[in-house]
Amino acid sequence: MESKTLPVLLTAFLVLAWSCSAARKCTEIHVVNDLDLNDVLDVACSSKDDDLGGKHAIGSAKDFRWRFCEKDVVYDCILTWGPVSTLFHAFDAGDDATPRCGRVCSWVAKPDGIYFSDTFPPKSLNLTHSW
Ligand SMILES: *[C@@H]1O[C@H](CO)[C@@H](O)[C@H](O)[C@H]1NC(C)=O
Repeated sequence: MESKTLPVLLTAFLVLAWSCSAARKCTEIHVVNDLDLNDVLDVACSSKDDDLGGKHAIGSAKDFRWRFCEKDVVYDCILTWGPVSTLFHAFDAGDDATPRCGRVCSWVAKPDGIYFSDTFPPKSLNLTHSW
């Protein structure tokens, strides 16, 4: 191999790797059970084309997570805690009323309702939906 070939290949690889990762801005959503100790949170989230495996029983302090790279997708979640449940848009870039989820965000179920955080683990929390 010519001595110039390696730096050229390396540069090409780095440019390609950088542009691919920049183009694929994916989103990871976490739904966290922060209910009373030992209470189970049932999580059923879906888009038009994907039901993410249906209903999942999430234990105390655990989370259900999924990842996607489409931007024009809408995900709805139904969370159930004993006899009560609530339905909300977990991701909808076209809806100004739905908090923006960037690379990562969390929906946290607490005894008084569902909170949104733009981080995981969740830090600053805003109550968005009551049970
Ligand atoms: C919480 O609400 C405040 C006030 O509306 C807003 O400025 C902030 O960005 C919100 N935080 C999150 C994580 O959505």
